[in-house]
Amino acid sequence: MTSLSTSDTSVVQKQDIEWNAINFKVGNKVILNDVWGKVSSGQVCAIMGPSGSGKSSLLNVLAGRSAPTITNKISGNIMVDNKPINPVDYRKNIAYVMQDDALMATSTPREALQFSAALRLPKGTPLKVINELVETTLSELGLTECADVLIGGALIKGISGGQRKRTSVGVEIITKPSLLFLDEPTSGLDSFSAYNCINLLKKLAGNNATVLCTIHQPSSEVFFLFDTCMFLKDGLVCYHGPVKGIAEHFSSKGITTTHQLTYLLTHLLANSSRLRMPS
Ligand SMILES: Nc1ncnc2c1ncn2[C@@H]1O[C@H](COP(=O)(O)OP(=O)(O)OP(=O)(O)O)[C@@H](O)[C@H]1O
Ligand SMILES: [Mg+2]
Repeated sequence: MTSLSTSDTSVVQKQDIEWNAINFKVGNKVILNDVWGKVSSGQVCAIMGPSGSGKSSLLNVLAGRSAPTITNKISGNIMVDNKPINPVDYRKNIAYVMQDDALMATSTPREALQFSAALRLPKGTPLKVINELVETTLSELGLTECADVLIGGALIKGISGGQRKRTSVGVEIITKPSLLFLDEPTSGLDSFSAYNCINLLKKLAGNNATVLCTIHQPSSEVFFLFDTCMFLKDGLVCYHGPVKGIAEHFSSKGITTTHQLTYLLTHLLANSSRLRMPS
């Protein structure tokens, strides 16, 4: 992946998001248990935790993609800029990159971005502006060289998995969202591409975007790109705060290790709920 540049990414409107007392239950199964958190404009927050800990469920609830039903009980408070929102009504304001993409196999990355921009930018946006934005975004994501190759799918060989992931990111960021959620944007990427991908999110945050993403096993280099992180275990918040504060937080609980991050994720979070953090 080529190095990313966002020199011409325009500054977006600042929006902070905050949530508390988020509970999500399916039948008797508790999926999110009193979850709280905050991401400010200009920050990138990583949600981490073992598989099944509730990372995607939290993103879905915050983005209004999980609605309460007879079996699914969802409650809690979500505020944008200190004003309570109904996430289902607010979902159109949140750009969301799903864990599994929904790209058309017979389109190319350039067409996917053009389509997204034409549909989602304000009506009347000149074609010239759309095309410039598409080219800039393709370049930012290192997709210029495969811009006209079919995306492909199960039956058609197309662009690589990493290029596909970056195309899904491009489809969302082309509208310059203030709030951007991503479910595992680095899964399937090599370490250099993963670093570039999170670095791009950092640059978007540098232009005022508020970014929240789930991530599995980031390298230390990638991990320390994030401003804040949240560790979930069985739907409980075990840590939420600055990435640089983790060592102090866990050592205050008598847990020290030279391999802090790997150790916490693979052993502590897998075996203990005693690390629950009060909201
Ligand atoms: N609609 C649902 N009905 C029943 N169980 C559900 C539902 N949605 C989520 N779950 C369960 O909730 C738990 C959390 O799921 P979730 O997808 O949020 O985990 P995750 O942390 O994103 O995992 P992964 O890292 O594997 O993506 C899992 O045990 C999952 O099976
Ligand atoms: Mg998930």
